[in-house]
Amino acid sequence: MHHPVDSDDLEVALAKTAGYLREAKRVAVLTGAGVSAESGVKTFRDEGGLWEGHDVEAVATPQGFKRDPSLVWKFYNARRNQLAEVKPNPGHFALAELQRRFGHDNFTLITQNVDGLHQKAGTANVLEVHGSLRRIRCSNVACDYEEDRDDALEGLPECEKCARYLRPAVVWFGEVLPEDVFIAAKMAAKECDAFLVVGTSAVVWPGAWLILLAREFGANVIEVNLNPTDASSIVDVAMQGPSGVILPKLVEKLNS
Ligand code: OAD
Repeated sequence: MHHPVDSDDLEVALAKTAGYLREAKRVAVLTGAGVSAESGVKTFRDEGGLWEGHDVEAVATPQGFKRDPSLVWKFYNARRNQLAEVKPNPGHFALAELQRRFGHDNFTLITQNVDGLHQKAGTANVLEVHGSLRRIRCSNVACDYEEDRDDALEGLPECEKCARYLRPAVVWFGEVLPEDVFIAAKMAAKECDAFLVVGTSAVVWPGAWLILLAREFGANVIEVNLNPTDASSIVDVAMQGPSGVILPKLVEKLNS
């Protein structure tokens, strides 16, 4: 069991992490909703989080969409509309800075977030394992229609190819992850020397599993989270605090 770190402990943890990163040729990062919390985007499982106010089955499963597509679009349109207002925070920018330091080929950012804030902060080649709120696609599995759309949508949009309802291009419960993205994420976890896990409760597959994979393949694993998580006991360093504060401190430490 980890306890909240005081500033001395944080200094030690930052120094240890900076040491791991200096030794590392390849780095991979896994982020979750916590990294966007300081931008004003709600997390899922924290107090007041999205899953507290909504029935997951109704708004985030293919069955829910089939039953009531309007309800599902209402939920996602509210989240899509928020995208115009939210901005990356210092945590997102610090990760973009790390990518510049290691180079695109040696730094892979895997995110479970669908808000696009890493890209806005300047990170390239982001692996969005849960899809994106800024894309919509056809709900017909046999149809490959998909488009980038981040404007507000009225009513129930229909596919211009097959006339079925369009849906947000996000991954719902019970659905498989986009295969190419998932393969790339697995490879990054296996090949990295340091694996940074930021702002995720790591309870949803494949988050927790990627952490185990990285560990099994020899990476040093570093966690940044406001609170201890299920993963905290198996990582090499666990730093507790807001990612918007800790990640910039880490970059500063690396540069010093
Ligand atoms: P969760 O809501 O499960 O977890 C958010 C984590 O962020 C928690 O561990 C918090 O302690 C931490 N946190 C909150 N604020 C933070 C901050 N300022 N700095 C650092 N950490 C902070 O969100 P995810 O782990 O992203 O999937 O959830 C994973 C997936 O489950 C989501 O992608 C979503 C959800 O159901 C789908 O919608 C398919």
